[in-house]
Amino acid sequence: MESSMKDRLQALEKRFEIDVQEAETEAALADLKARYLGKKGVLSGILRSLKDATPEDRRSVGRLANVVKGRIETKLLDARAAIERTAINVTLTSDWTDITLRRSLRAVSVKESGLHPVTIVQRELEDIFLSMGFDILDGPHIETEWYNFTALNVPQTHPARDMQDTFWFKDMKHLLRTHTSCIQIRGMEQKKTPPFRFVAPGKAFRCEATDASHEAVFHQMEGMLIGKDISVAHLIYFEKTLLSEIFNRDVEIRLRPGFFPFVEPGFELDINCLICDGTGCSVCRQSGWVELMPCGMTHPNVLISGGIDPEVYNGFAFGLGLDRLVMMRYQIDDIRHLHSGNVDFTRQFADC
Ligand code: PHE
Repeated sequence: MESSMKDRLQALEKRFEIDVQEAETEAALADLKARYLGKKGVLSGILRSLKDATPEDRRSVGRLANVVKGRIETKLLDARAAIERTAINVTLTSDWTDITLRRSLRAVSVKESGLHPVTIVQRELEDIFLSMGFDILDGPHIETEWYNFTALNVPQTHPARDMQDTFWFKDMKHLLRTHTSCIQIRGMEQKKTPPFRFVAPGKAFRCEATDASHEAVFHQMEGMLIGKDISVAHLIYFEKTLLSEIFNRDVEIRLRPGFFPFVEPGFELDINCLICDGTGCSVCRQSGWVELMPCGMTHPNVLISGGIDPEVYNGFAFGLGLDRLVMMRYQIDDIRHLHSGNVDFTRQFADC
């Protein structure tokens, strides 16, 4: 009895080995598993027929059956891994992209562009500011209420918060920054002791209706200079130098009073609209002037937020509207082109 059972087990294992070599898919393996190891499978059949055997036979054949079962399971797993490997290799050889072959892809009309015009102008501005001794700083898009408002002298209930509605996070403590002015505070914290000057370019976000000159996502370049005995004359000098560098000619500007809680006095610097030469268009809302650079002398409360003593130091700050500047520079008549994702639009600037 015992030896014939053992023969049956050995024969079963041999047959399995042939079958498993022929199984080429995962489904075929699942089939095999059911056929050999399932409840109604061959192995269970052999074990069932043990019911009439002596207890010793049952024990020794049972032990062997378990060993055979373990080996079959391992072989099934190995076979499965091999099938998976083959499938991966097939995909790797049949379905791959040579990312170094951009030029040949042009045959299927992938369009190339150059740098985005905002990036071009941003880099030029960075060069101009670097040449005037400014550092370039960066800050996060997701800001805290403190850096975006409170530290900038805009307390929680101040109506000035309504001027800059934005996208708040559920905790109502974090928001998408409404301006790059947050980096005034971060910059002061980092620089610690005046004199220092820096600019900080980047995206800003506002929850507002869009039109030819307003977008929910736009770009600014913040500037700050802190030292001793700084005056409005210094501020105007920097702004004029900057504009004549960027436009390569003298542009007409005007300075109006403007309210921003973080500066005192505050100004709006407008330039004569270069799209319509001041005659009136949709970009300048028919006024002939475009607001380009709100600015002013840093409010003492802001210096205090940044850890600087307002009794000793003072300075100025400005927030250059980068998209507007780009529009004036390239005579773009709608800010929405800038985020349109239209390669035909951006590639025009590649060689500018
Ligand atoms: N942060 C202001 C805005 O986005 C602009 C500004 C910057 C004004 C710096 C004054 C000084 O409207």
